[in-house]
Amino acid sequence: MTAVGIDAIEIRTGKLRLDLPNTFAPVKGEDPGKYTKGIGIEYSSLPDVYEDIVTMGANAAKQLLDRKGLTPEDIGRIDVATESAFDNSKPVSTYIAGCLEQVYDGDFHHANKGERKFACLAGTQSIDDAYNWIRAGRNRGRAALVIATDTALYERGDPGEATQGAGAVAMLIDEDPDIVALSTEQGYGSADETDFLKPNQQFPSVDGKRSIKVYLARMREALEDYESVTGDTHPDDFVYFPFHTPYPGMVRKAALLGYRHITRGTEIEDALADDIGMQPREDDYPDREAYEDAIRAYMDELKETRRYQEWYERAIDPTVDISGQVGNWYTGSVHVARLSALSAAVENDVDLVGKRLLVGSYGSGAQAEIHSETVQDGWREAVEAVDVAPQLDARYDLDFDEYELIHDVHNHEKEADVEEFTAPEDEFVFTGWGRMNERRYEYIE
Ligand code: COA
Repeated sequence: MTAVGIDAIEIRTGKLRLDLPNTFAPVKGEDPGKYTKGIGIEYSSLPDVYEDIVTMGANAAKQLLDRKGLTPEDIGRIDVATESAFDNSKPVSTYIAGCLEQVYDGDFHHANKGERKFACLAGTQSIDDAYNWIRAGRNRGRAALVIATDTALYERGDPGEATQGAGAVAMLIDEDPDIVALSTEQGYGSADETDFLKPNQQFPSVDGKRSIKVYLARMREALEDYESVTGDTHPDDFVYFPFHTPYPGMVRKAALLGYRHITRGTEIEDALADDIGMQPREDDYPDREAYEDAIRAYMDELKETRRYQEWYERAIDPTVDISGQVGNWYTGSVHVARLSALSAAVENDVDLVGKRLLVGSYGSGAQAEIHSETVQDGWREAVEAVDVAPQLDARYDLDFDEYELIHDVHNHEKEADVEEFTAPEDEFVFTGWGRMNERRYEYIE
């Protein structure tokens, strides 16, 4: 069976950044350690005045098409995943296609376009749609463009303000991909939950502490579902575990639970037993509460073991590097985690061909999905070509007053006339509203 997966990736970060430990925390009267050690985000990327989910998505897509030497005729689908859409009817993908048609010969009139919504999970679901479309033989030799684009802003003063971010990830899904091939096997964990939602409002209603519990519960369910198809997973089966990263501290919690799960009944549990005992089994405890206390005690010890820490440094740390520099990109976050791991492997000259990733996506509301990916021959060249560091380094540093202004600029309820902080060059920009309240865009040389 021909491999189907991710052939190219490009990112576009918002061009501003807010330093959380040094600029945000002092004004909030918080200890910088909350950001450097707890949450794990050093900088939030934020959009400049002329940027939004369309410009970031279109700019990432243009970078991708240019690098691959593709034209609109090569693309048979454009799916946008977002939870920051500004229109309940017209999909963001039509705006992005309109932008791209300003600069390319040809058009996307015969490409199927849509918009996927399931909180942060929708990017992965769009990749799924593309995979199924190609596997069904409906693609006529064309590839799919999947764009995950979000402006993750919270109400000023909401605890979520500590995890904001803005950016887009564009991915080309195709046969014989250069970067990773997707597994047919998947697992789902899904339930009607009220942890994070935006009922016709721009900024989310969030129950932050509950969202952490729901993330962990649905991920666990998805992993068990995945294992029901593939058999038990083992830490050595996968080189990296890119998981949805609303902030690195969340992945730290998921990794510890995941490690306990995938080492249960293995030689690793036996090897650790001398130091920390065997994992608690529910049957050995009089009630659920006693069992849960025992699990918590086991995990406190597990996270201090050298074996766990070495695994974490090898398999998890590289997946959260970029997230710590940009914050939450919602639908793009798990795809940033994959790119982060692959970029670290390029930097450290790790050979990944044939190695596997276990990818865990999550969307509030809530659903988790787990699948695996196999790294392909062309991965190194394709990942080396992504200009992550130059983009991140070029961001403008906001002081706190400027941060307040830019938050107002992107607040749909406010009128804020603010000068741009950076000068646009060779990119799509937002230019204002049209007569039917549509948003308008132009390419600036
Ligand atoms: N040094 C080291 N760690 C510190 C610290 C310090 N000085 N101060 C705080 N921390 C740690 C806390 O212990 C906590 O870690 P833990 O959860 O492992 O205990 C972490 O930093 C965050 O601190 P906390 O006080 O819980 O922050 P908060 O009340 O502002 O809430 C979120 C954090 C994530 C709940 C909040 O930002 C939020 O609602 N985010 C949006 C929703 C979201 O992203 N959910 C994730 C699932 S999708």
